[in-house]
Amino acid sequence: MPMRIVPSLIAQPLYASGMDIRNIVILTGAGISAESGLATFRGPDGLWEGHRVEDVATPEAFRRDPALVHAFYDARRAKLGTVEPNAAHQALARLDSEWPGELLLVTQNVDDLHERAGSKRLIHMHGELTKGWCLRCDERFRWIGPMGEGAACSSCGAAGMVRPDIVWFGEMPYEMERIDEAIRGCDLFVSIGTSGAVYPAAGFVQTARYCGARALEMNLEPSLGSTMFNESRIGRAGDLVPQWIDELLSSSPRA
Ligand code: APR
Repeated sequence: MPMRIVPSLIAQPLYASGMDIRNIVILTGAGISAESGLATFRGPDGLWEGHRVEDVATPEAFRRDPALVHAFYDARRAKLGTVEPNAAHQALARLDSEWPGELLLVTQNVDDLHERAGSKRLIHMHGELTKGWCLRCDERFRWIGPMGEGAACSSCGAAGMVRPDIVWFGEMPYEMERIDEAIRGCDLFVSIGTSGAVYPAAGFVQTARYCGARALEMNLEPSLGSTMFNESRIGRAGDLVPQWIDELLSSSPRA
C-alpha cells in the first residue's frame, strides 16, 4: 500500500542532518496488531466483537457480570494462540536489539506479540492478557488458558478472586512514572497504530514536544492528535514501521 505523508501544522523535517537521536520512546496501539488478525477497538459503530468496550472493560462491569467479562477475556486470550507477530512487531524488536541509546516501547496492547517478536525494553501500560491478578493477596502471575469465575490464585490458592491483569477504564495505567521520565528525556517520540482517543497515552506526544523531542506518527489515518506530530505517515504499520526502522538505523548518528 503506498505511503502518504501528512505534514503537521508544526512541520519540520524529522531527520534533519545533524539531528542527534539518542533516546527514543515508542507508543503502540491496537493498529500494530491488526495485520496479525487482532481486532482494533474503535470501528465505525464503536462496537468491538459484539460488545461495547465499557460493558466489558470497567471494574463496574466486572462486579456486575464477572462471567461475561471473564468470557470476553478468555476468548481474547484463546485468540492469542492463533496469531503471530507481524513485520511491524519484528522490526521494533530489531530496533530494540540494535539501538545503542535509550529505548522504551510502551504498548497499550494487552496481547503478547511484542515480546513474542523479541522486544525486551517494553512496558504494557494497560496490562497483559497472559497475566492474572489475585484480589485477595495482590499477586500477579502468568496465566495461560481460560480463567473463568472460579480460577484459583497460583500464589495464595484462593478461588474466585482472580481477575484478568488488564487496566480497565477508570483505573490507573501501569508504570506511569517510568514512562513519564522516559518521555521527558527522549529525543524522538513515535506513535504507531493508535487512534489517540484514550488518555493518558494520547497526551504523551504533547509532553514529548514540550520537552523538546521530535514526534512521528504512523497510522492508517491521522490520529486525533496528529497535529502535535512533526510528521504523520499514513499507511499500514507492516509497511511503514520496517521502512522507518531501516531509515533510522542507516541514517541516524548512533548514541
Ligand atoms: N496499521 C496502522 N494503523 C492501523 C492499522 C494498520 N494495519 N489498522 C488500524 N490502524 C489504526 C486505526 O486507524 C486506528 O486509528 O489503529 C488505530 C487503532 O485505534 P483504536 O482501535 O482506538 O485502538 P487504541 O488506540 O490502541 O486504543 C487505545 O483504548 O479501549 C482502550 O485500553 C484500550 O488500549 C486500548 C485503548
